[in-house]
Amino acid sequence: MKVLVLGSKGQLGRCLCDQLGVTQYEVIYTSRAEIDIGNLVTTKKKITDIKPNVVINASAYSAVDKAEEDRQTADLINHLAVANIANTCKYLDCWLIHISTDYVFDGAANKPYSEDDGTNPQSVYGCSKLNGELAICSSGCQYLIIRTAWVFSEYGNNFLKTMLLLGADHDELSIIGDQIGCPTYGPDLAKAIICTLPFLELFQQNEIYHYAGNSSCSWAELAQSIFDEAERVKILNNKPNIVMITSEEYLTLAKRPINSQLDSSKFEAKFGHKASDWKLGIRASIRSLYNPIDIKK
Ligand SMILES: NC(=O)c1ccc[n+]([C@@H]2O[C@H](COP(=O)([O-])OP(=O)(O)OC[C@H]3O[C@@H](n4cnc5c(N)ncnc54)[C@H](OP(=O)(O)O)[C@@H]3O)[C@@H](O)[C@H]2O)c1
Repeated sequence: MKVLVLGSKGQLGRCLCDQLGVTQYEVIYTSRAEIDIGNLVTTKKKITDIKPNVVINASAYSAVDKAEEDRQTADLINHLAVANIANTCKYLDCWLIHISTDYVFDGAANKPYSEDDGTNPQSVYGCSKLNGELAICSSGCQYLIIRTAWVFSEYGNNFLKTMLLLGADHDELSIIGDQIGCPTYGPDLAKAIICTLPFLELFQQNEIYHYAGNSSCSWAELAQSIFDEAERVKILNNKPNIVMITSEEYLTLAKRPINSQLDSSKFEAKFGHKASDWKLGIRASIRSLYNPIDIKK
């Protein structure tokens, strides 16, 4: 099986590279430098030349607030480029595994979101990601769409790394306490994506799945867990005091869902792969970031 990874230098892309490298699959990794998915004609030609059996699209316009002021680029990368990739996959008769987001929901539900719940994105980013999903579904290609949430890891820019940087020189931090989600450790998401590969030909079913961490918390609770672990392994001497604030008190350009929880049970049942424990992910990220012989930082 020939697997093409788009966006291989992003957070998830790098987690995928780490793990796909030790599988039996033939894997081609491309970042923006090799395939700029915003260039539709070139992208179609390059993917067609590679002739993959599976395309994993780990690329995205992921700057949620910036998207509010750059709607056109967000739409190009998260929607039109995704439609182009899906059409190319249809043409090649190859699978598309695409990653989407909890931000397709409005957050008004009082339970974790399942795949059948109605979408209602509140931000430009969320709309562009939903339009990407819809374009895949109507393209006629074979696909899996995996929605995830609150991804963190030792790679890229993410909440865990921001907290560790801020925590090093602040005695007190104000963190949002009224948005609830399921943090997802990037390498666990990569593992989940890879675990679907042997099933693709067996199931022959186009589906949307949710895959996120196995329990929920607020941003403030997530920050507390990060600082607790950092203190435990002695990389922070004085962990900052966390002051919980509301979303109203910390206004951002893009509106985020109050309830971002994703129910991963459909994925767990279909692939026999459990949603993972993000607290272990915090431990693993910190161990990787502060290992002096680790060059991944
Ligand atoms: N991070 C989260 O908390 C989160 C939550 C829910 C869902 N997701 C979804 O999970 C997926 C992976 O996210 P991530 O955290 O890995 O994001 P990320 O670190 O921002 O990675 C996205 C990658 O896409 C690349 N990209 C952007 N425009 C491109 C283009 N025109 N051509 C080719 N590559 C391009 C970026 O390259 P450059 O670095 O060159 O821009 C970057 O390497 C995305 O679909 C995202 O929507 C993420």
